[in-house]
Amino acid sequence: MCSIIGYAGPAGAAPILVRGLRRMEYRGYDSVGVATSSGGKMSLEKGVGRVSEVNEARGLDALPGTVGIGHTRWATHGGVTRANAHPHSSSSGAVAVVHNGIIENFAELREALEAGGFSFSSETDTEVISNQLQSDLEAGGGPKEAMVRTLARLRGRYAFVAMFGDGTLAAARFHRPLIVGVGRGAYLLSSDVLGFVEQTDDAIYVGNGDFVTVSPGAGGGAELRVFGFDGSPARRQVTKISKEFADTYKGEYAHFTLKEICEQPDAVLRVGANTPGAAAAAAALVRGAPAGSVYVTGSGTSYNAALVAKHVMLRHGGVRVEPIMSSEFPHSPVSMDGGSVLLALSQSGETADVIGAAAAAKEAGARVASVVNVMNSSLAQESDVVMGMNCGPEIGVAATKSFTAQLRAIHEVTREIAVGRGGHLPRPGAVSAAISGMLEGQAGIKALAREMRDVSDVYVMGRGVHYPIAAEAALKLKELAYVHAEGIPGGELKHGPLALMDEGVYAVMINPTDSTHAATLTGAREIKARGARIIGVSDARSDVYDRWVRIPGGDEAAYPVTEIVPIQLLAYYLALEKDADPDYPRNLAKSVTVE
Ligand code: G6P
Repeated sequence: MCSIIGYAGPAGAAPILVRGLRRMEYRGYDSVGVATSSGGKMSLEKGVGRVSEVNEARGLDALPGTVGIGHTRWATHGGVTRANAHPHSSSSGAVAVVHNGIIENFAELREALEAGGFSFSSETDTEVISNQLQSDLEAGGGPKEAMVRTLARLRGRYAFVAMFGDGTLAAARFHRPLIVGVGRGAYLLSSDVLGFVEQTDDAIYVGNGDFVTVSPGAGGGAELRVFGFDGSPARRQVTKISKEFADTYKGEYAHFTLKEICEQPDAVLRVGANTPGAAAAAAALVRGAPAGSVYVTGSGTSYNAALVAKHVMLRHGGVRVEPIMSSEFPHSPVSMDGGSVLLALSQSGETADVIGAAAAAKEAGARVASVVNVMNSSLAQESDVVMGMNCGPEIGVAATKSFTAQLRAIHEVTREIAVGRGGHLPRPGAVSAAISGMLEGQAGIKALAREMRDVSDVYVMGRGVHYPIAAEAALKLKELAYVHAEGIPGGELKHGPLALMDEGVYAVMINPTDSTHAATLTGAREIKARGARIIGVSDARSDVYDRWVRIPGGDEAAYPVTEIVPIQLLAYYLALEKDADPDYPRNLAKSVTVE
């Protein structure tokens, strides 16, 4: 995923663009660039690295002009090089473009443009857009006409902002986010409200298949127009964005990741509060579906939440749901029809694999109920029922508070499914208090991270509903601390993984005192006998643990939520021990909008 931004208004564009890009850096951060227009002349600077580095080296924020575009990149087409960084100018320099998403027919378009004398200096699909726009501009008319012609040729899923030589900006949205920030005589075009939240809280969510132009207006201010891809005028509605976005600063915390981990006691209390009735509506869909026709899907952390959903919904709601990893959806024996229901879990609501699964479900006539954090996301727009995680912007690339919010959302939907039978599900206040208790133990976790700083292999084991937590724990350790970590169903130890256990290994046993306890302890002893060090995450002490991470006891259904919190902290502090940046892990993006 990349971030795109454009600004046209009375102020200097470049500093506003750079500030917006910094805020959106979580979306992709391998290279960055800005182009501005001043007096009919374009200036462009870009480079490989983080926004602050490239800005320092190349003075992005010093470019002249009151109109400009900017981009942070997460490489898809072509390596991480300066040539591949955005913006991309057309051959003559008449148009520059920043883009998020994929142009599927770029090779074909490029060939035709090359045959027509256009030259290319990058490996990206983006350059095709700028050259195509130049070509379509040369065919007559202005930026609007060029947009209509070019958009008719593009295939794929994308959002882009183009800057024309006369200072006009044009931006199009097709299955990738594009939001217009409406300021005083100024407009910002952005992938995310975070790109413009410092400037304004008035926004227009551009419709899918619409484009906008922003041109210098008669009275000195900029003028915005909205069109369908065919050039017909489209409706626009200004909405207020939530004030909480403006609050997206690290504050007293060293990193967003730590801030978001620490926000969990509050976040779990707010789940669903912005979508009253949604849990009941999702539950009604599930209850109305024939047995065996409810699926739950997600990617990464959200998939681990889907695995938890399988256990919670059957145990406490009496409903069998089948978890399918979104990337596996097209290759799985899924049989969906008009009676089926897909529960789609996604923090961003923009993950291409999840959107693909939802689209396939809709195609089969199934109903889609989604649990998302970003309410205006593509997934939310395509769902029959949308439940909000409502946990506030999550900037850290590794999901933390959105995971516990997803688990809470699963509890709420299950409670509605069970009507009268969900009594064993924990109340939000109890979950919140349990997480607060876990956060108080940070000093011990920090010390454990120091002890583990040179570890190369960590195996995390759990049985039943604790296996998805083991998988999520391993994911956190990989993402944040770059440690080889595996989540293993506890009972599988003797079927292979035991061969890997020796003095160099740490084994984390997710081991609360429920029906899985005794078997997991036995596994711990077998591992310890091979010399590995054992970390027990449990409400009960045992002599087999070299380190005991205590979790609150007593509430079985709350265990999965409390178990993950100390591991989130461990992965965070281990990242610090290893001098890794926990907010921006290498090679990863917050949301992967390409398949
Ligand atoms: C990316 C992120 C993960 C996240 C996954 C799903 O891979 O790096 O942290 O879990 O996407 O994201 P979603 O927004 O769909 O929950």
